[in-house]
Amino acid sequence: MSATPESQSCLPVVGSDTLVPLVDGRTVTYANLDCAASAPALQAVADRVTQVLPLYASVHRGAGYLSQVSTALYEASRQTIGAFVGARGDDVTVVTRNTTDSLNLLAGCIPADADGTPGRVLVLDVEHHANLLPWQRSAGGATVLHGAATVAETLEAIRDELARAPYALLALTGASNVTGELLPVAEVVAIAHAAGTRVALDGAQLVPHRRFSLEATDVDYISFSGHKTYAPFGSGALVGRRDWLDAGTPYLAGGGAVRQVDIDEVVWTNAPARHEAGSPNVVGAVALAAACDALAALPAGTLEAHEAFLRERLVTGLESIPGVQVVRAWADAADPVGVVTFSVVGHDPGLVAAYLSAEHGIGVRDGRFCAHPLLARLGYASGAVRASVGVGTTQEEVDRLVSALESYVTDGPTARYEIVDACWTVADDPRPLPEGSGLSGLIATAAAGFIAAAEGCGPAPEAGARSGAQGVARPVGALVDA
Ligand SMILES: Cc1ncc(COP(=O)(O)O)c(C=O)c1O
Repeated sequence: MSATPESQSCLPVVGSDTLVPLVDGRTVTYANLDCAASAPALQAVADRVTQVLPLYASVHRGAGYLSQVSTALYEASRQTIGAFVGARGDDVTVVTRNTTDSLNLLAGCIPADADGTPGRVLVLDVEHHANLLPWQRSAGGATVLHGAATVAETLEAIRDELARAPYALLALTGASNVTGELLPVAEVVAIAHAAGTRVALDGAQLVPHRRFSLEATDVDYISFSGHKTYAPFGSGALVGRRDWLDAGTPYLAGGGAVRQVDIDEVVWTNAPARHEAGSPNVVGAVALAAACDALAALPAGTLEAHEAFLRERLVTGLESIPGVQVVRAWADAADPVGVVTFSVVGHDPGLVAAYLSAEHGIGVRDGRFCAHPLLARLGYASGAVRASVGVGTTQEEVDRLVSALESYVTDGPTARYEIVDACWTVADDPRPLPEGSGLSGLIATAAAGFIAAAEGCGPAPEAGARSGAQGVARPVGALVDA
């Protein structure tokens, strides 16, 4: 098939030609099919960061020339980030660390009902933990609605629940980090607003993949992460209605968030400064704004066409392989983003992911993707494998994944794999570390140590223990956690 515009990357990203070692001693260009977890930096973002670093100095408080410049850069970035998601005139853009930060911040701003009852939040069980746990800890708590098999039924269930009880907020995924599927935003907003409920979208997987506008959709709040939006410099954003953010609990207590402090009394300032105590992440904000500019400059429809092409090719390829199942949350979801989760029936997702890396230089994600309730409901409590594409992804990378999986299913892995600290690794991994990386020990071993300690978004903790003796090579095709 000849190259079409959709089959090529649609924006240059840093590291697209990075070579990685394979277990057989060869090197190949890394195929980063894990953009949903963290996307590579756009070249435009890296260039902008390099350009502004010589101008970097303290912000908001410095009288020096560069302090003034840095303050202007920070505030201009805030404008760009807000405009990128279609902020209305009176909306506030708070620069945060990431989506998790944004949603925790908003959870402290939900007002009480007129009678003083703390405002309650409605969420679905399809959510990433970042859009589940903050609401459960909020003053009014959260109700978790079990998702239905179709979008139509899910919308109906939301409507019924909002009619049954008052909710201050409906907090909903913009696009699922497991299946890439979305709910129709216009309908969701109409249903919620008719019930007097505001809508917060978790835009972590929406904003990097689709044009989005608060003004056009009437969504009340959107949150997203710089590191998923091609700006991995530690920033994110919460954008939305001012009243809750002006009245809400200041997210962090500290300098910059106050008007006046006396020993016995504090007068907090308004949003966004109210929620940005401490020295702000100027470089992160500038980087995110640069990513917003670059994405906004793409001709309308380019991003969507690129992802639709790659996703379609990926799903068709995966479904043509015997024993590979693509995970779906809703039978009737339309126009999903480029995030695809699948399982190779009877095979441990951790082994599949380790094989793709070690024998084909392909980076994917395995585990439960910080969405344990959804994975459990859909029958994948032991995890699955996720491949996700972005602006830098090419058809060649997608095809490489499909053909690597075909080989896996037909012939099995060539190398020997073992479980170390609940993580699949290559036995006696011969792959060298990158020159000058300053690392010691194998990358895979380091990751295993982390997962054993964290157990958050990775495989079910017991998966490795159940799937075979530690340190013993696994037979090809052995059944694990089926
Ligand atoms: C849908 C969704 N929401 C929230 C998050 C949390 O994002 P972050 O880790 O950047 O806070 C993620 C991360 O994977 C996500 O995919």
